[in-house]
Amino acid sequence: PVLVVDYGAQYAQLIARRVRETQVYSEVVPHDTPVDELLRRDPAAIVLSGGPASVYAEDAPQVDGALFDTGVPVFGICYGFQAMTSALGGTVEHTGVREYGRTELSVTGRGGTLHEDLPVHHPVWMSHGDSVSKAPDGFTVTAGTPDTPVAAFEHPGRRIAGVQYHPEVAHTPHGQEVLRRFLHDIAGVRPQWTTSSIVGDTVAAIREQVGDRRAICGLSGGVDSAVAAALVQRAIGDRLTCVFVDHGLLRAGERAQVERDFVAATGVRLVVVDAVQQFLDALAGVTDPEEKRKIIGREFIRVFEQAARDLQNEAGEAGEHIDFLVQGTLYPDVVESGGGSGAANIKSHHNVGGLPEDLQFGLVEPLRALFKDEVRRVGLELGLPETIVHRQPFPGPGLAIRIIGEVTAQRLETLRAADSIAREELTAAGLDRDIWQCPVVLLADVQSVGVQGDHRTYGHPVVLRPVSSEDAMTADWTRLPYDALERISTRITNEVAEVNRVTIDVTSKPPGTIEWE
Ligand code: XMP
Repeated sequence: PVLVVDYGAQYAQLIARRVRETQVYSEVVPHDTPVDELLRRDPAAIVLSGGPASVYAEDAPQVDGALFDTGVPVFGICYGFQAMTSALGGTVEHTGVREYGRTELSVTGRGGTLHEDLPVHHPVWMSHGDSVSKAPDGFTVTAGTPDTPVAAFEHPGRRIAGVQYHPEVAHTPHGQEVLRRFLHDIAGVRPQWTTSSIVGDTVAAIREQVGDRRAICGLSGGVDSAVAAALVQRAIGDRLTCVFVDHGLLRAGERAQVERDFVAATGVRLVVVDAVQQFLDALAGVTDPEEKRKIIGREFIRVFEQAARDLQNEAGEAGEHIDFLVQGTLYPDVVESGGGSGAANIKSHHNVGGLPEDLQFGLVEPLRALFKDEVRRVGLELGLPETIVHRQPFPGPGLAIRIIGEVTAQRLETLRAADSIAREELTAAGLDRDIWQCPVVLLADVQSVGVQGDHRTYGHPVVLRPVSSEDAMTADWTRLPYDALERISTRITNEVAEVNRVTIDVTSKPPGTIEWE
């Protein structure tokens, strides 16, 4: 792999994704990984990421100079560029000039391998306080900015290069090309990481792990569990059984999507557990958001466990135990829980986590090495429908946390109808890829006066919560076109009898969260 050494910026995972977009597999490793440990992973190249520290700070993470004598190609970005400069004998200065944001880069001379034939002046994204004032001996400076004379250097013979700016962000339009040139042209890494190679390798790895034994997988209706299940199904066929718990808190059409579309696309063996009444009973009288979440998590595990036990018993009678549980853990979860490749540190997912000891499954995590965009591409490659692969995020506790007040069957029906109209109209207006998601929230304990025809109404408001986001950690409210809003509002108030007012939430996150509960 290409190893991306994480100097504590939020950029390391983004760099890893960009590396993979050049069809080269990459992994993120902590900055305190010793050089011999890095070498043990047989890296095709190493990328040193940006980071918040100043190389002058007392506890600043350093680069071990020995790295540059190993012959492994190294690329430094921002802080990594400066740390590399120090380690190689160049000079980094604390100039007091902070360069932040969009900056014009000027290519020096012919631009070397990284910048050759790019426009002489082009925009790049900067974010740094210290600057490199002198490149290490033997390195060619290939670009600068007014505040940073040394903004890029390279030594193709030693296969070492670096840039002060952030090539990984979208604000640096030629950044991806620069990264590609480093990897393909300077480091000589061959582009082999493609969607079909991912599918092939993963299917082989699952066969290797599971052998001729059996597995179960909980489907949530979301992208991750669907793609994980589809991969395992491709590897072991009918020795996988999927369990889908219908807790009654789903949106219109979601159960059918799994029962019909997913099965049609994959041929997977599916058990659907109808637990609607069980969840309604457990939620009766509950209004506190945290309590709702706890109850749903608890009931979910109960139902899933029981289904797993039943399947285990059936399989046992046939002399075939189920040994594995499939989970859709993604690479960002693996990185965040501190686990590198092969590490056993597993973040428990509330929907299928916490299984009791007596079930004792081994875990199959076919998406452990993948980012979300790769998961979607794999899903398409496996023939899953767009409706599943490009599904927007939907919370595990479902519509229950979008009903402000007690959850009842009637209120769920009302919200489901309003939500369905909003989704239909957003899709019809071609807005699905512009928004991250658009929860519809029912203010079930609020009533307001309205008029419809000649009648006075006294109904409930719904809130539209359209948001734009990269990762759901922060979000902005989406400026939806007025005509789309108008159609949604007209249709909901006409078609959903209990709703007489449609409002829109114009709060960013923070301070608001995306969901209301
Ligand atoms: P908040 O409301 O925290 O939501 O801004 C951030 C993102 O997470 C989703 N979400 C959940 N997803 N289980 C999930 O699987 C949950 O309990 C849950 N709560 C919120 C939410 O839809 C948004 O995309």
